[in-house]
Amino acid sequence: MKVCLATTFAFYLKAHNFHWNVEGPLFYNYHKLFQKIYEDAFDAVDGLAEEIRTLGSFAPGAMSRYLELSKVDDEISFFDAQRMVKTLQMDNERVIAVLEKAQRTAAKEKCVGLENYLQDRIDRHYKHNWMLKATLGNAK
Ligand SMILES: [Fe+2]
Repeated sequence: MKVCLATTFAFYLKAHNFHWNVEGPLFYNYHKLFQKIYEDAFDAVDGLAEEIRTLGSFAPGAMSRYLELSKVDDEISFFDAQRMVKTLQMDNERVIAVLEKAQRTAAKEKCVGLENYLQDRIDRHYKHNWMLKATLGNAK
């Protein structure tokens, strides 16, 4: 769950970064798409942290810990809009992978509430995946 929190936080920050820095003739479309994604991921951060507290552990809240734990890489470069979308789409799949792994553990431990919570998060990221892939033009 700590990896889920750190990965979601890194994903949130990258989407917000792209929201700020995207450029090009379709600026507003990308700007809004990235906003939709970062708002959802930011909303999730608090819930994930509180699930960790509910399980009896401390929730990591430091950048150094997030860098250690996150499966989404930090990004300091600026690139074109389509590459931003592709990067976020690949990162979104990493978020889904860590959430699914946590969900399998929750199912094994019979933590039904947590399992359901994680399913909701996974579903939201499936939706992000559709929107990002559709924007790239290779949605299936
Ligand atoms: Fe904004």
